[in-house]
Formats: sequence, C-alpha cells, structure tokens
Amino acid sequence: MTGLSLRAEDVTLGYGGPAAVVTGLDLEVRAGEVLVVVGPSGCGKSTLLRAFAGLLPVRAGRVLADGEPITGPSRDRALVFQDDALLPWRNARRNVELPLAMRGVPRGRRRDQAAQWLGRVGLDDAGDRLPRELSGGMRQRVQLARTLAGAPRAVLMDEPFGALDAQTRAGMQRLLVEVLSDAPATVVFVTHDVDEALLLGDRVVVLGPAGIAAEVTVPNPRAPREAGAGVGAGSGDGVEVEELRDRILVALGARGEAKETV
Ligand SMILES: Nc1ncnc2c1ncn2[C@@H]1O[C@H](COP(=O)(O)OP(=O)(O)O)[C@@H](O)[C@H]1O
Ligand SMILES: [Mg+2]
Repeated sequence: MTGLSLRAEDVTLGYGGPAAVVTGLDLEVRAGEVLVVVGPSGCGKSTLLRAFAGLLPVRAGRVLADGEPITGPSRDRALVFQDDALLPWRNARRNVELPLAMRGVPRGRRRDQAAQWLGRVGLDDAGDRLPRELSGGMRQRVQLARTLAGAPRAVLMDEPFGALDAQTRAGMQRLLVEVLSDAPATVVFVTHDVDEALLLGDRVVVLGPAGIAAEVTVPNPRAPREAGAGVGAGSGDGVEVEELRDRILVALGARGEAKETV
C-alpha cells in the first residue's frame, strides 16, 4: 500500500453564505509526503481538510486523490481532530480494533494487531482501560493507533495536538515522526505552531486569506530533529531552518515576533 497523492485544482470552497472561504486554490500533495499547512485562524485550513476528506463538496474546481475526483469520504483518507473521537464505552484495545473490523480482519487477528498498535504508541498496558480512564495524551495515542490500524493511504490531521500540554505534545511529535518513518501514508497536517510545522513537515505551506502566501521545503526531512528543542538541532542545518522559520513567520505577518525570538 502506498500513500495517496492529493491535489486541489483551482478550488473554491464555502458554506451556506455567499462568501467563499477558499478561492481558486492550487495545491499538490505528493504521495508519501508530509505537508504541513499553517495559517491564521479562520483562513480555511479545516475547510481544506474537509474537502480532502470528502466531507465538503467543492464549489468550483476539483479535488483529486490519485487523479480521481473526491466525491465523498473513504477509508483511504482518515481525518484526525484535536478532540479524540474514541467510543467511550469501548476500551482502548476495542477502539483500535474498530477499523480492523471494518477492513475485514478476522476477529482473532484483530486483537493481536490492536495490541501491536497500542505497543507502538507506548500503551502496552492500557488496552483494557476505557477512554475516561486515560489522560488526554494517552487518548490521543489511542486515536493515533486507531487511525494507523485502519491503514489509511492519507492522514488528514487538524491541529491534533493542540489541546495537549507542551511536554505531552513534544512526546506526540516524536512519536508521530517515528511511526511515520515506516508508514507509507501521505500526511496533511494543520497546525498553528511553526516549530511543529518545521519539525514534522517535508514541506510547509502558509495559507492566507488570498491563498498560498508562502511555501518552504524543509531540508533533510525526517532527519532526527529534537522535538520540543527547536528545529534543525542535530542536523547541521540549523541556520537554514531558522531562515525558513523567519520566512514562514513573515508570511504569517508575525515578523516582529520572529525578531524577538531569534
Ligand atoms: N460549518 C460551517 N458553516 C459555516 N461557516 C463555517 C463552517 N466552518 C467554518 N466556517 C467558516 O469558514 C471560515 C474558515 O474556517 P476554518 O476552515 O475552520 O478555518 P481555520 O481552520 O483555518 O481556522 C471561517 O470564517 C469560519 O467561520
Ligand atoms: Mg481549523
């Protein structure tokens, strides 16, 4: 199974009102790429993910997955939110088993595979616990295990770590880098956090009110970078990454902040 390529072609998106949220957007996400989208609140990041998820029809233009128009949701394209969507009456293991059941994995194998996925996210001992018996960070781990157990070809992540405290968040970032390193899925990851963007992304696009305001390619993608300790640490390209960080902050209209922190 390989990652899905995704493409927005001259796409206009909106809701009930006459004003469009996104107008004439062109964006390509290559198979297996981790594309991070940053942008001010309300610029349409979640709206764009909904279109890729097949939950919001386009007003104009086309959204494509592997060249085929996206007409509705598919198990190939998983959407992950900040608020976990675990079923509260199912324990962690049985939550992870759910997509395996949907994929037709036989009952006996489901249990083993779910246990393996829980192990990958560091929750070997939590399989029997209900979501309410887990911390927010642990619930997000279960959600990640559940998502990846479904073997999606694209994972659409909408500020998934936004509700976590800084330390838990850094742990989740490390974990995501690790599990992505041997998962073939394409990832579109939305965040407010520029450091998170540079840590996780192969490429970062800044979405603004008038479309894509900037795009940067991250050197040595997925090279071991220390989560939570700034980007570029350890790979010898710290200066270059600092420049990219400034370019993103300028595009976000936050240049003053950039100067303060350099
Ligand atoms: N379900 C909805 N119905 C109507 N308008 C919406 C809906 N969801 C989002 N919007 C509007 O669309 C715009 C973009 O929202 P959104 O994509 O959530 O932005 P972002 O994720 O970048 O913060 C905002 O003006 C928001 O109010
Ligand atoms: Mg949003």
